[in-house]
This record gives sequence, structure tokens and C-alpha cells, in this order.
Amino acid sequence: MTAPKKLFIKTYGCQMNVYDSERMAEALGGQGYVETATPEDADMILLNTCHIREKAAEKVYSELGRFKGLKAENPDLKIGVAGCVAQAEGQEIMRRQPLVDLVVGPQSYHRLPEMEARTRAGEKALDTDFPEEDKFEALKSRPKAARGPTAFLTVQEGCDKFCAFCVVPYTRGAEVSRPADRILTEARDLVDRGVREITLLGQNVNAYHGAGPDGDMTLAQLIWALDKVDGLERIRFTTSHPNDMSEDLIAAHGDCAKLMPYLHLPVQSGSDKILKRMNRSHTADSYFRLIERIRAARPDILLSGDFIVGFPEETEADFQATMDLVEEVGYGYAYSFKYSTRPGTPAAERAQVDEDVKSERLHRLQGLITRQQRAIQDGMVGREVSVLFEKQGRFDGQMVGKSEYLHAVHVNDAKVDIGALCRVRITGSGSNSLAGEIVAAS
Ligand code: SAH
Ligand code: SF4
Ligand code: F3S
Repeated sequence: MTAPKKLFIKTYGCQMNVYDSERMAEALGGQGYVETATPEDADMILLNTCHIREKAAEKVYSELGRFKGLKAENPDLKIGVAGCVAQAEGQEIMRRQPLVDLVVGPQSYHRLPEMEARTRAGEKALDTDFPEEDKFEALKSRPKAARGPTAFLTVQEGCDKFCAFCVVPYTRGAEVSRPADRILTEARDLVDRGVREITLLGQNVNAYHGAGPDGDMTLAQLIWALDKVDGLERIRFTTSHPNDMSEDLIAAHGDCAKLMPYLHLPVQSGSDKILKRMNRSHTADSYFRLIERIRAARPDILLSGDFIVGFPEETEADFQATMDLVEEVGYGYAYSFKYSTRPGTPAAERAQVDEDVKSERLHRLQGLITRQQRAIQDGMVGREVSVLFEKQGRFDGQMVGKSEYLHAVHVNDAKVDIGALCRVRITGSGSNSLAGEIVAAS
């Protein structure tokens, strides 16, 4: 038997890329590849890239440059670029970096085995199609390897919303939902392999409308179907758009015990003028009313969000409206970014805010967010939470997991198994995690 070939995958960007990387590794598993943790001993290197901000895209070229030495040492080494930069700039990557053998977009990676074979025959392979066939169905070679207790599962892809700043509708294509039966089969398979928590993924996951037994299903209906899967203890979903928070999904947060009390609901800005220019089609006020309804269904829900500062035409007053919104909502987590011009998006053509002004606003917003996050985390001390243990901690005898609110929690109890779900009393709050003591296994 020949020794397995080694595959090194580096993943950038969102959780959907993490899921895709797992699937790409499985697809190449059928070609005799096993994953390796270092590029030095790899026969194939794949960068699964992100195009969302300028800096993310630039990283790809600098990373590729670093592989020059490896390719000189091992001429059989194949180098591939996958993901959203591959989709947006595939031809240019091939032109700019002759080291690259293969470019594959996020909708065509089920063709990787055949593309890999072409590179082995000395050809270059480029595929950035948006094919008709279901790539997940086409990926048959899913090995039954054991898994950790948490997993991602993509249920919806692409986006039709065309926010004026965003590349996703161009890199991932139009919105598509996977049929419910395939998702349920995949979920059961994950549970059989040790998974106890599944995070349903989609660029617009709450717009899910996949085919079910009696017509299209909503995300809430899919969650209720997953609720019946024995052995699956926790369900999460991300990312949601405020306009797609339907009544049944809000109600599920109150009624479905397996659905965790955490919701990532990006609003981007607190200024109605900026929201309009972003093509977001919600207002700050409609967002507040929505949050009231969600909190009425599940009072302890922890909210997180995304914000862009320095979008074209953002004045100090517009920025202040964002600060006010954050004050009013109270986020457990929030991610904030300086607006980054993306080629081909409408906002890239508009008059830009000065870089210094963007940096200063980002600094103020991040200060507020950090204080808020910390206050919410500190407020957990003395409370009892449920923790799903995922791995050993940094120190001997320490185990780390996530609470239902997605806070990292560590306990000093080496007897806890990975995959155990325990009641834990929170005893301390550090900069990035909580400390706790086991009350009971649940
Ligand atoms: N599908 C998700 C998020 C997509 S990208 C959603 O609709 O919420 C993740 C985050 O990146 C966005 O929420 C936004 O805050 C940020 N982002 C997207 N494009 C950006 C750009 N051009 N500049 C800065 N931040 C951006
Ligand atoms: Fe991008 Fe807007 Fe679609 Fe989210 S909703 S992926 S921010 S276009
Ligand atoms: Fe990035 Fe593509 Fe995800 S641009 S954020 S990897 S959808």
C-alpha cells in the first residue's frame, strides 16, 4: 500500500469556511489524502480564503509567497486556493502567483478530486462556476471518523440581500437552502460520531426555506425537527438578518429547550440614514422592537452583533447613534470593523470617510463593547449554567467548555470527560473566560 498523501488546509473567514474545509478534506480523503497540521510535510496545501475585507484578501498573497521555499524543495507539492478570494479573483491569482496549481470557488469544491488529478498530470485547474448540482450531495466520501462534541452544519448558502458594502452575494452566489431530509441525515450521522451540539450555518440562516415533507420549511420548523434527534443536546444557528426573524423562530427561543439562548443578530449601524445607504431595509427602531419581542420570548437571551464604522457619509452624529444603540441593547459579544472598500460593491464608489476618523471611531466603539461584554460576563458570577466540555484547558487538570450563552467556562476537575454536559456554578470572571465548579452532571 502506498503511504497516504498529506493535505494541509488553512482556513480564513467565517464558520461556513470552517465547514467547507472539513468537507474539502473529506473530498480529498477519497483521493488518499490525510490531513496534516503543518505545511512543511504536505503534498497539497489549500488556503480556504475570505474576501470580506481588504486585509483578509491581502493575507492570501503574502501567505502564498511564503510557500515558495517549500515548492522549491518539493516540486510535487500542489498549492491550491479555495473560498471567496478564489471566487472573486481566481484568474488574477493564477496570473500573480505562478506557484498556484489549483483555484476552486466555494460552490464547486465537490469537483476537487478530479481537479487534483489534473494537477498531478501537470495541468493547472481553475473552477469558479456556480454549478446547478448540489455540491453536498455530490460529496459522497464522508468517512465515519469520530468527532468532537460540537460541529457546524451548513443549511443555507449565499445571499440575495446585496448590502452596499458586502461581497458575499458575489462570492457565494444566490441564496439556496438545502433540503431538510439531507440536513437531518447529516445531523444524525454527526450525533452517531459523538457530536452533541450543532450550529446551523448560513449567510442568512434565518431565511432558510428548504424543502420538507410538506412543502418548504422555515428555520424554526427545521430546529423543531432537529429537536427530535436523540443524543443531540444543543442547537445554535448563525448568522441571522433582522428582517428574517419570523414569529415561529422567536417563539422557538422560548419553547425549544435544545435551542440555546444566544442570538447573533447584526445591525451594522444605529443611524437610519446610514442603514438606508447600506441597503439594510431595517431601521434602528425596528431593530429595538424586534429585540423586545425576542427578549419577551426568552428574557435571558444573550445577544451579539456586527458593526461597521466609517461607512461612506457617516458623520459624528451617525456614529453617535451607533454608540447609543449599543448602549441601549447591551451586547454579550459584538464584532466591529472599519468599513473596507470592496471592488464591485456599490459603496466602494462613494466618497470615503478618512482613515484616521474610522480608526478613532472604531476605538471608541470597541471600548464600549468591551465594557459591556465584561459587565455581562461578570454578571454570570454566582449563577448556575450548563457547560458542554470540549477540551482540556491550558493548565493541568483543567477542562474547558461553553455555557449555553457561549461563554468559555473552565473548571479544575480532570475527571470531567470531553463531551460531558454539566451544571456548573460560576465562581469567577476573567478577561476572556469564566471559572466555575461542577454542581452536577446533567
Ligand atoms: N451574513 C452575515 C455576515 C456577513 S460578513 C450577515 O449578513 O450578517 C460578517 C460581517 O462583516 C458583517 O456583518 C459586517 O459587519 C462585516 N463586513 C462585511 N462587509 C464589510 C466591509 N466591506 N467592510 C467592513 N466590514 C464588513
Ligand atoms: Fe452580506 Fe448583507 Fe448578505 Fe449579510 S445580508 S451576507 S452583510 S449582503
Ligand atoms: Fe469571508 Fe466568504 Fe465567509 S468572504 S466571511 S469566507 S462567506
